[in-house]
Amino acid sequence: MDQASNLRKLVVAKNDSTKKTRTIAVTSGKGGVGKTSFSVSLAIALARDKSSVTLLDADLGLANVNVVLGIIPKYNLYHVIKGKKRLNEIIVSVPEGIKIIAGAPGYHQLANLDEKTRLKFISQLGDMENDDYLIVDTGAGVSQNVLSFVTSADEIIVVTTPEPTAITDAYGIIKSIASQSTEKTIRLIVNRCQTVSEARRVADRIINIASQFLNIKVENLGFIFEDTFVAKAVRHQKPFISSYPKSRAAGCVNIIADKIAGREPENNTGGGISGLFKKLFTQVDEEEVE
Ligand SMILES: Nc1ncnc2c1ncn2[C@@H]1O[C@H](COP(=O)(O)OP(=O)(O)OP(=O)(O)O)[C@@H](O)[C@H]1O
Ligand SMILES: [Mg+2]
Repeated sequence: MDQASNLRKLVVAKNDSTKKTRTIAVTSGKGGVGKTSFSVSLAIALARDKSSVTLLDADLGLANVNVVLGIIPKYNLYHVIKGKKRLNEIIVSVPEGIKIIAGAPGYHQLANLDEKTRLKFISQLGDMENDDYLIVDTGAGVSQNVLSFVTSADEIIVVTTPEPTAITDAYGIIKSIASQSTEKTIRLIVNRCQTVSEARRVADRIINIASQFLNIKVENLGFIFEDTFVAKAVRHQKPFISSYPKSRAAGCVNIIADKIAGREPENNTGGGISGLFKKLFTQVDEEEVE
Protein backbone atom coordinates (compact mmCIF):
# COMPACT_ATOMS: atom_id res chain seq x y z
CA MET A 1 0.00 0.00 0.00
CA ASP A 2 1.21 3.61 -0.58
CA GLN A 3 2.48 5.02 2.67
CA ALA A 4 0.80 3.47 5.69
CA SER A 5 -2.24 5.54 4.97
CA ASN A 6 -4.50 5.88 2.05
CA LEU A 7 -6.86 8.82 2.39
CA ARG A 8 -9.53 7.22 0.33
CA LYS A 9 -9.58 4.01 2.33
CA LEU A 10 -9.63 5.95 5.58
CA VAL A 11 -12.43 8.26 4.53
CA VAL A 12 -14.52 5.45 3.08
CA ALA A 13 -13.94 3.23 6.09
CA LYS A 14 -15.20 5.86 8.50
CA ASN A 15 -18.21 6.89 6.46
CA ASP A 16 -21.13 5.10 4.93
CA SER A 17 -20.24 3.26 1.79
CA THR A 18 -22.84 4.97 -0.40
CA LYS A 19 -20.91 8.22 -0.62
CA LYS A 20 -17.27 8.45 -1.50
CA THR A 21 -15.09 11.43 -0.82
CA ARG A 22 -12.70 12.10 -3.68
CA THR A 23 -9.39 13.29 -2.31
CA ILE A 24 -7.39 15.32 -4.79
CA ALA A 25 -3.84 16.47 -4.01
CA VAL A 26 -2.55 19.52 -5.88
CA THR A 27 1.22 19.66 -5.98
CA SER A 28 4.19 20.90 -8.00
CA GLY A 29 7.93 20.51 -8.28
CA LYS A 30 8.77 24.22 -8.37
CA GLY A 31 7.22 26.64 -5.89
CA GLY A 32 5.11 29.61 -6.88
CA VAL A 33 3.58 28.02 -10.00
CA GLY A 34 -0.01 28.74 -8.90
CA LYS A 35 -1.07 25.71 -6.81
CA THR A 36 -2.88 27.72 -4.16
CA SER A 37 -4.64 30.12 -6.54
CA PHE A 38 -5.71 27.10 -8.59
CA SER A 39 -6.75 24.93 -5.61
CA VAL A 40 -8.95 27.64 -4.10
CA SER A 41 -10.63 28.43 -7.42
CA LEU A 42 -10.99 24.74 -8.30
CA ALA A 43 -12.68 24.05 -4.95
CA ILE A 44 -15.14 26.89 -5.56
CA ALA A 45 -15.80 25.74 -9.13
CA LEU A 46 -16.44 22.16 -7.97
CA ALA A 47 -18.90 23.43 -5.33
CA ARG A 48 -20.95 25.20 -8.01
CA ASP A 49 -23.26 22.20 -8.45
CA LYS A 50 -23.86 21.98 -4.66
CA SER A 51 -21.09 19.46 -4.19
CA SER A 52 -19.59 19.74 -0.71
CA VAL A 53 -15.92 20.62 -0.94
CA THR A 54 -13.27 20.99 1.76
CA LEU A 55 -9.93 22.57 0.94
CA LEU A 56 -7.06 21.53 3.16
CA ASP A 57 -4.02 23.80 3.23
CA ALA A 58 -1.34 21.19 3.74
CA ASP A 59 1.56 23.46 2.95
CA LEU A 60 3.00 23.10 6.43
CA GLY A 61 5.70 25.72 6.01
CA LEU A 62 4.12 28.55 4.11
CA ALA A 63 0.37 28.32 4.44
CA ASN A 64 -1.63 30.69 2.31
CA VAL A 65 -5.11 29.43 1.44
CA ASN A 66 -6.52 31.75 4.10
CA VAL A 67 -4.52 34.65 2.65
CA VAL A 68 -6.02 34.05 -0.80
CA LEU A 69 -9.47 33.91 0.83
CA GLY A 70 -8.82 36.90 3.10
CA ILE A 71 -9.71 35.15 6.37
CA ILE A 72 -7.92 34.52 9.65
CA PRO A 73 -9.26 31.33 11.20
CA LYS A 74 -8.92 31.01 14.99
CA TYR A 75 -7.45 27.53 14.81
CA ASN A 76 -5.23 25.95 12.21
CA LEU A 77 -3.15 22.84 11.58
CA TYR A 78 -0.67 23.93 14.22
CA HIS A 79 -3.28 23.22 16.89
CA VAL A 80 -4.06 19.83 15.35
CA ILE A 81 -0.45 18.75 15.05
CA LYS A 82 0.23 19.88 18.62
CA GLY A 83 -2.77 17.78 19.73
CA LYS A 84 -4.81 20.77 20.98
CA LYS A 85 -7.65 20.32 18.45
CA ARG A 86 -8.95 17.59 16.22
CA LEU A 87 -8.99 18.19 12.50
CA ASN A 88 -12.79 18.26 12.27
CA GLU A 89 -12.90 20.97 14.96
CA ILE A 90 -10.94 23.50 12.92
CA ILE A 91 -12.97 23.34 9.68
CA VAL A 92 -14.47 26.72 8.77
CA SER A 93 -17.05 27.58 6.13
CA VAL A 94 -16.29 30.54 3.88
CA PRO A 95 -18.81 32.68 1.94
CA GLU A 96 -17.58 31.19 -1.36
CA GLY A 97 -19.47 28.00 -0.50
CA ILE A 98 -16.59 25.77 0.52
CA LYS A 99 -15.02 24.71 3.80
CA ILE A 100 -11.37 25.17 4.58
CA ILE A 101 -8.82 23.75 6.95
CA ALA A 102 -6.23 26.45 7.49
CA GLY A 103 -2.52 25.72 7.36
CA ALA A 104 0.01 26.68 9.98
CA PRO A 105 1.66 29.85 8.67
CA GLY A 106 5.11 30.61 9.95
CA TYR A 107 5.59 27.37 11.86
CA HIS A 108 8.48 26.20 9.76
CA GLN A 109 9.41 23.49 12.23
CA LEU A 110 6.19 21.76 11.17
CA ALA A 111 7.44 21.42 7.63
CA ASN A 112 9.37 18.29 8.54
CA LEU A 113 7.22 16.22 10.84
CA ASP A 114 8.45 12.91 12.10
CA GLU A 115 6.84 9.82 10.59
CA LYS A 116 4.60 9.05 13.61
CA THR A 117 3.17 12.58 13.89
CA ARG A 118 2.62 12.76 10.15
CA LEU A 119 0.74 9.47 10.01
CA LYS A 120 -1.34 10.37 13.08
CA PHE A 121 -2.28 13.61 11.41
CA ILE A 122 -3.09 12.05 8.04
CA SER A 123 -5.21 9.38 9.79
CA GLN A 124 -7.42 12.13 11.24
CA LEU A 125 -8.54 12.94 7.73
CA GLY A 126 -10.66 9.82 8.08
CA ASP A 127 -12.72 11.60 10.77
CA MET A 128 -13.84 14.26 8.41
CA GLU A 129 -17.42 14.55 7.46
CA ASN A 130 -18.63 13.03 4.28
CA ASP A 131 -17.76 15.54 1.60
CA ASP A 132 -17.83 15.03 -2.13
CA TYR A 133 -14.30 16.41 -2.49
CA LEU A 134 -11.30 17.00 -0.30
CA ILE A 135 -8.79 19.17 -2.16
CA VAL A 136 -5.34 19.15 -0.62
CA ASP A 137 -3.08 22.09 -1.49
CA THR A 138 0.41 20.82 -0.74
CA GLY A 139 3.77 22.53 -0.57
CA ALA A 140 6.10 22.33 -3.54
CA GLY A 141 8.94 19.87 -3.91
CA VAL A 142 9.88 16.40 -2.88
CA SER A 143 9.95 16.52 0.94
CA GLN A 144 8.50 13.45 2.62
CA ASN A 145 5.61 15.54 3.97
CA VAL A 146 4.58 16.55 0.50
CA LEU A 147 4.97 13.03 -0.88
CA SER A 148 2.92 11.58 2.00
CA PHE A 149 -0.01 13.84 1.26
CA VAL A 150 0.29 13.36 -2.45
CA THR A 151 0.61 9.59 -2.58
CA SER A 152 -2.16 9.04 -0.04
CA ALA A 153 -4.72 10.97 -2.10
CA ASP A 154 -6.98 9.27 -4.65
CA GLU A 155 -6.08 11.65 -7.41
CA ILE A 156 -2.97 13.71 -8.04
CA ILE A 157 -2.75 16.97 -9.93
CA VAL A 158 0.70 18.34 -10.75
CA VAL A 159 0.81 22.03 -11.64
CA THR A 160 3.56 23.49 -13.80
CA THR A 161 4.13 26.60 -15.84
CA PRO A 162 5.81 26.75 -19.27
CA GLU A 163 9.06 27.94 -17.64
CA PRO A 164 11.90 25.43 -18.30
CA THR A 165 12.77 25.18 -14.57
CA ALA A 166 9.13 24.49 -13.68
CA ILE A 167 8.95 21.77 -16.38
CA THR A 168 12.14 20.11 -15.11
CA ASP A 169 10.87 20.25 -11.53
CA ALA A 170 7.45 18.91 -12.58
CA TYR A 171 9.21 15.92 -14.08
CA GLY A 172 11.18 15.60 -10.83
CA ILE A 173 8.10 15.45 -8.63
CA ILE A 174 6.40 13.01 -11.03
CA LYS A 175 9.48 10.80 -10.79
CA SER A 176 9.38 10.94 -6.98
CA ILE A 177 5.67 10.09 -6.94
CA ALA A 178 6.31 7.21 -9.37
CA SER A 179 8.96 5.84 -7.03
CA GLN A 180 6.39 5.58 -4.22
CA SER A 181 3.16 4.82 -6.04
CA THR A 182 2.82 3.73 -9.64
CA GLU A 183 -0.81 2.64 -9.75
CA LYS A 184 -2.07 6.21 -9.78
CA THR A 185 -2.58 8.44 -12.77
CA ILE A 186 -1.08 11.89 -12.47
CA ARG A 187 -3.01 14.69 -14.08
CA LEU A 188 -1.19 17.73 -15.32
CA ILE A 189 -2.20 21.42 -15.32
CA VAL A 190 -0.10 23.91 -17.27
CA ASN A 191 -0.65 27.29 -15.63
CA ARG A 192 0.24 30.76 -16.91
CA CYS A 193 0.12 29.86 -20.62
CA GLN A 194 0.11 32.51 -23.31
CA THR A 195 -1.50 30.30 -25.94
CA VAL A 196 -3.33 26.99 -26.25
CA SER A 197 -0.52 25.53 -28.34
CA GLU A 198 2.05 26.49 -25.73
CA ALA A 199 -0.02 24.61 -23.13
CA ARG A 200 -0.25 21.59 -25.39
CA ARG A 201 3.47 21.60 -26.14
CA VAL A 202 4.42 21.72 -22.45
CA ALA A 203 1.97 18.98 -21.51
CA ASP A 204 3.05 16.75 -24.42
CA ARG A 205 6.69 17.16 -23.48
CA ILE A 206 6.14 16.08 -19.87
CA ILE A 207 3.76 13.27 -20.80
CA ASN A 208 6.16 11.90 -23.44
CA ILE A 209 9.20 11.95 -21.17
CA ALA A 210 7.22 10.35 -18.32
CA SER A 211 5.93 7.57 -20.60
CA GLN A 212 9.44 6.92 -21.88
CA PHE A 213 11.29 6.86 -18.58
CA LEU A 214 8.79 6.34 -15.77
CA ASN A 215 6.34 3.61 -14.96
CA ILE A 216 3.46 5.99 -14.31
CA LYS A 217 0.66 7.41 -16.41
CA VAL A 218 0.45 11.18 -16.85
CA GLU A 219 -2.61 12.78 -18.44
CA ASN A 220 -3.27 16.30 -19.62
CA LEU A 221 -6.06 17.75 -17.43
CA GLY A 222 -5.99 21.26 -18.86
CA PHE A 223 -4.35 24.65 -18.74
CA ILE A 224 -4.85 28.12 -17.32
CA PHE A 225 -4.02 31.28 -19.18
CA GLU A 226 -1.64 33.89 -17.87
CA ASP A 227 -4.12 36.45 -16.60
CA THR A 228 -3.56 39.74 -14.78
CA PHE A 229 -6.82 39.19 -12.89
CA VAL A 230 -5.18 36.37 -10.92
CA ALA A 231 -2.59 38.68 -9.33
CA LYS A 232 -5.23 41.39 -8.92
CA ALA A 233 -7.47 38.96 -7.02
CA VAL A 234 -4.53 37.85 -4.83
CA ARG A 235 -3.90 41.51 -3.93
CA HIS A 236 -7.57 41.91 -2.92
CA GLN A 237 -7.47 38.58 -1.06
CA LYS A 238 -10.39 37.23 -3.04
CA PRO A 239 -10.26 34.12 -5.25
CA PHE A 240 -10.17 35.10 -8.93
CA ILE A 241 -13.02 32.76 -9.76
CA SER A 242 -15.31 34.73 -7.43
CA SER A 243 -14.08 38.26 -8.01
CA TYR A 244 -13.48 37.91 -11.75
CA PRO A 245 -15.76 35.05 -12.87
CA LYS A 246 -15.58 36.11 -16.51
CA SER A 247 -11.78 36.25 -16.62
CA ARG A 248 -9.92 33.87 -18.89
CA ALA A 249 -8.28 32.16 -15.93
CA ALA A 250 -11.69 31.56 -14.33
CA GLY A 251 -12.98 30.15 -17.62
CA CYS A 252 -10.10 27.69 -17.72
CA VAL A 253 -10.66 26.56 -14.12
CA ASN A 254 -14.38 26.06 -14.78
CA ILE A 255 -13.52 23.80 -17.70
CA ILE A 256 -11.07 21.84 -15.54
CA ALA A 257 -13.67 21.50 -12.74
CA ASP A 258 -16.27 20.26 -15.22
CA LYS A 259 -13.79 17.69 -16.48
CA ILE A 260 -12.97 16.49 -12.95
CA ALA A 261 -16.65 16.31 -12.00
CA GLY A 262 -17.56 14.66 -15.29
CA ARG A 263 -20.28 17.24 -15.87
CA GLU A 264 -21.29 19.06 -19.02
CA PRO A 265 -19.63 22.45 -19.39
CA GLU A 266 -22.06 25.31 -18.64
CA ASN A 267 -23.92 26.06 -21.82
CA ASN A 268 -24.29 29.76 -22.55
CA THR A 269 -25.13 29.54 -26.23
CA GLY A 270 -27.77 26.88 -26.59
CA GLY A 271 -25.32 24.93 -28.76
CA GLY A 272 -23.68 21.67 -27.86
CA ILE A 273 -20.48 23.29 -26.71
CA SER A 274 -20.13 25.62 -23.74
CA GLY A 275 -20.38 29.29 -24.65
CA LEU A 276 -17.55 29.98 -22.32
CA PHE A 277 -15.40 27.32 -23.91
CA LYS A 278 -16.22 28.57 -27.37
CA LYS A 279 -15.50 32.18 -26.48
CA LEU A 280 -12.28 31.24 -24.78
CA PHE A 281 -10.87 29.37 -27.73
CA THR A 282 -12.09 31.75 -30.40
CA GLN A 283 -10.38 34.52 -28.52
CA VAL A 284 -7.22 32.49 -28.22
CA ASP A 285 -7.06 31.57 -31.88
CA GLU A 286 -7.33 35.22 -32.80
CA GLU A 287 -4.67 36.24 -30.34
CA GLU A 288 -2.33 33.37 -30.80
CA VAL A 289 1.11 34.37 -31.98
CA GLU A 290 3.73 31.72 -32.49
N1 LIG B 1 -2.74 32.09 -14.29
C1 LIG B 1 -2.02 33.05 -13.70
N2 LIG B 1 -1.84 34.25 -14.30
C2 LIG B 1 -1.12 35.22 -13.71
N3 LIG B 1 -0.55 35.13 -12.51
C3 LIG B 1 -0.67 33.95 -11.86
C4 LIG B 1 -1.43 32.85 -12.41
N4 LIG B 1 -1.40 31.83 -11.50
C5 LIG B 1 -0.67 32.26 -10.46
N5 LIG B 1 -0.23 33.53 -10.66
C6 LIG B 1 0.61 34.35 -9.75
O1 LIG B 1 1.56 33.53 -9.14
C7 LIG B 1 1.62 33.82 -7.75
C8 LIG B 1 1.92 32.52 -7.01
O2 LIG B 1 0.76 31.72 -7.03
P1 LIG B 1 0.43 30.71 -5.85
O3 LIG B 1 0.67 31.34 -4.52
O4 LIG B 1 -0.92 30.17 -6.12
O5 LIG B 1 1.56 29.63 -6.14
P2 LIG B 1 1.91 28.34 -5.29
O6 LIG B 1 2.33 27.29 -6.26
O7 LIG B 1 0.80 28.01 -4.36
O8 LIG B 1 3.16 28.86 -4.44
P3 LIG B 1 3.88 28.09 -3.21
O9 LIG B 1 4.74 27.03 -3.83
O10 LIG B 1 4.68 29.20 -2.56
O11 LIG B 1 2.80 27.53 -2.34
C9 LIG B 1 0.28 34.43 -7.38
O12 LIG B 1 0.41 35.40 -6.41
C10 LIG B 1 -0.24 35.00 -8.66
O13 LIG B 1 0.01 36.38 -8.67
MG1 LIG C 1 0.80 27.69 -2.24
